[in-house]
Amino acid sequence: MLGHHGSGARAGRNADRRLEAVRSGEASLLPATDIPAPAAPPSARASATGTRRAPLGGARVTYGFPNTTTAIVKGVQFALNPGESLAVIGPSAAGKSTLIKMLIGTLAPSAGAVRLDGADVHHWMREDFGRYVGYLPQAVELFEGTVFRNIARMGEAHPEQVFAAAQLAGCHEMIMRLPLGYETEIGENGQFLSGGQRQLIGLARALFGNPKFVVLDEPNSNLDGESEKNLIGALEKLKALGTTVVLVSHRPGLVQHVDLVLMMRDGAVEMFGPRTDVLNRVIAPSVPNNRPSTEVRVAKVTAPARRERSLAAS
Ligand SMILES: Nc1ncnc2c1ncn2[C@@H]1O[C@H](COP(=O)(O)OP(=O)(O)O)[C@@H](O)[C@H]1O
Ligand SMILES: [Mg+2]
Repeated sequence: MLGHHGSGARAGRNADRRLEAVRSGEASLLPATDIPAPAAPPSARASATGTRRAPLGGARVTYGFPNTTTAIVKGVQFALNPGESLAVIGPSAAGKSTLIKMLIGTLAPSAGAVRLDGADVHHWMREDFGRYVGYLPQAVELFEGTVFRNIARMGEAHPEQVFAAAQLAGCHEMIMRLPLGYETEIGENGQFLSGGQRQLIGLARALFGNPKFVVLDEPNSNLDGESEKNLIGALEKLKALGTTVVLVSHRPGLVQHVDLVLMMRDGAVEMFGPRTDVLNRVIAPSVPNNRPSTEVRVAKVTAPARRERSLAAS
C-alpha cells in the first residue's frame, strides 16, 4: 500500500527515477510522474467551500460560438464528487458536446468557469491536463500511424500501459486480429478501420494512463452489442478505480450504469439528479420509484450568468 509512505518521499523517489531516465534518454518511457494538480488560482481557492473536495464544478457556464448571437449552452451548473459518474442526455443540438468541450477546457465559456479540483480548467497547462483527463470526442479523430501509437497518444509508452488501456476498453482481442496487431498502420484518420474499431481505439486512447477524469462523448454510437457490454464493464472498472466519468449517451443500456443524469434541452439544464430520479421522470414515468427521493442538486437556471470574475470572488 503506497499510503504507508509519505507522498513527499514517493515524489522524491519518482524524481530520482526521472532524473536517471533523462540522463539515459528514456524519460518518455516512464509513466507520468505523480505530480500534484496545478495550484488553484487564489480566487478559486477562496470560493472553495467545506471540507469535501468537489473535483468538478464551477460557476454557471454559458457559451456562444464566435460571430453568433444565440447562446448554445445557457447557464449550466452542476458539481460532481470524486469517483462519481454522470450521463448527459438530451435531444440532438441540445448543446451536449459543446458543454463537454468546456468541461475539458477545449472551449472557453463566454461566461462562467469550469473547475476541476478547484482550478479553472483553462488555467491548467494542456500537457499536465492530458495526464489527468481522458477524452473521447463524438467524432473520433485518429492519427496516421500504428494502433499502438494512437492509443499511446502518439508519445512513447510501455507496451503494458497500452495493452492495459486496450483491455479496459475491451478491444485487445480485436486489435490482435488486425494484420499486424498493435503495429498495424491505421491510415489517415484511421481509414483502414471500421467506425466501431475507430471508436474502440479512441476509447482505449482516452483510458490510456489511468486518467482521473474520463469524458466520453457518445462512446457507443458505433458499437455493437458485445462492445457495448465491454464498455459497461469498463465503466464498472473505472468506478472501482475511483475515476470521475462524464459521458454523453442516448442508449439506456449505458445510462443505467451512471450515478447521476443531467438532461439538457436547448442549451439549458432541464433536470439534474440521481439517475433513478431523473430517468423515472424523463424516460419511464410509469416505472415506480424504487429509491428514496433525493434532492435535485441543481435547478434549471434561466437567469443570465454573471461575469466570471464576480462569480469567482463570491
Ligand atoms: N462551430 C459552431 N459554430 C456555430 N454553431 C455551432 C458550432 N458547433 C455546433 N454548433 C451548434 O451548436 C448547437 C449544439 O451543438 P452540440 O453541442 O454539438 O449539440 P449536441 O451534442 O447536443 O447534439 C447546434 O445547434 C449546433 O448546430
Ligand atoms: Mg453531440
